[in-house]
Amino acid sequence: MKIGVLKEPEKSEKRVSISPKIAKLLVDNGFEVIVEDEAGSSSKFTNSDYKEVGATVEMRGAVYKECDVLVKINPFDEDGLKLIDKKHILICQLFHKSHPEIVKKIADKGATIFSMDALPRISRAQDMDVLSSQSNLAGYKAVIKGAYEMTKIFPLMMTAAGTITPSRVLIYGVGVAGLQAIATAKRLGAIVEATDIRLETKEQAESLGAKFITVEGNDDDSEKGYAKAASPEYAKKQKEAVDQSLFKADLVITTAMVPGRKSPVLITEDQVKQMKNGSVIIDLAAAQGGNCELSKFNKPVIKNGVKIFGTTIAPESVSTNASDLYAKNMFNFIMFLTENNAFKYDLEDEITDETLIVKDGVIRKT
Ligand code: NAI
Repeated sequence: MKIGVLKEPEKSEKRVSISPKIAKLLVDNGFEVIVEDEAGSSSKFTNSDYKEVGATVEMRGAVYKECDVLVKINPFDEDGLKLIDKKHILICQLFHKSHPEIVKKIADKGATIFSMDALPRISRAQDMDVLSSQSNLAGYKAVIKGAYEMTKIFPLMMTAAGTITPSRVLIYGVGVAGLQAIATAKRLGAIVEATDIRLETKEQAESLGAKFITVEGNDDDSEKGYAKAASPEYAKKQKEAVDQSLFKADLVITTAMVPGRKSPVLITEDQVKQMKNGSVIIDLAAAQGGNCELSKFNKPVIKNGVKIFGTTIAPESVSTNASDLYAKNMFNFIMFLTENNAFKYDLEDEITDETLIVKDGVIRKT
């Protein structure tokens, strides 16, 4: 089976879906890997890196023509859609609910597509979970970005010239990104506090050394590990419980998301006005609307001396690691879906069932 690795548009994406390390694993497992010219360049992987591990490098048209399977990070754009035909099995993060028009175009071509972002959050699927592997990096990089933007250091420092008190970091949302942010800020010596609507995260936050801010009405009844939307009463109680810490914080990292919905607003303009001059907010939920009312996606905002960055950070800033992890998730997914180098389409299995969005032109998930 020939797997084609497509190049992402450089302006909007720096990652590549298969890194040379993982191309080697695929080759070792009997797949042929054909990489589009310069597909890895923004992640610092050269054409030669791929050739050295047994992959071949071709121009875009040839990759579409020769390969049965095409892998990518983002949904196919207009140019890509034109080149798809019914023999193709596509794998990418399609976010099919947000892109019904792309789903329809793929179906019209008679092709098949699996969406990596639709994987069920079950332990069996953990090693294929791209949302987790990328969020983990985002949590780390949010702290580093915050440190860079702050005018203070994180740790307690006793010097002959006086004592520097540690910075205070507050984290909203103790999921994959939030947990990594706690661990990173703690390692750098900050005082870390965190809150989440799911009570099950209290122990996880505390085990990494953060103080958990419990809110009356914290939910211990989550859906498959995910939060449900918070009620207005909860949002009010959350403000009462967290405001004191928010107004003392030097760095605030927000990661709160609810699948399939706009991110909840947890920090209003009025709250920002009461924050410390020079404090920094890194809003990792900005692509879904943001946890801070003032966040603008990929555009810094300064309000009353508070710097607010709405970003997803990790992919663009650590594309080498992000590509390697995404690629390993992709490899595990391909190995799961195939047997003797052919797709097995076991629809009884929830991993296949939930990720197979279009099969031979028939739309299965909307
Ligand atoms: P996410 O990105 O959807 O949300 C991040 C965090 O925000 C979650 O912890 C959520 O509870 C919290 N949140 C949502 N609304 C909030 C609000 N109003 N106030 C405060 N916090 C709020 O979730 P993520 O990080 O992708 O995963 C969440 C959990 O799912 C993980 O901690 C884990 O338990 C589970 N999971 C399981 C996987 C597997 O078994 N394959 C893979 C990934 C996650």
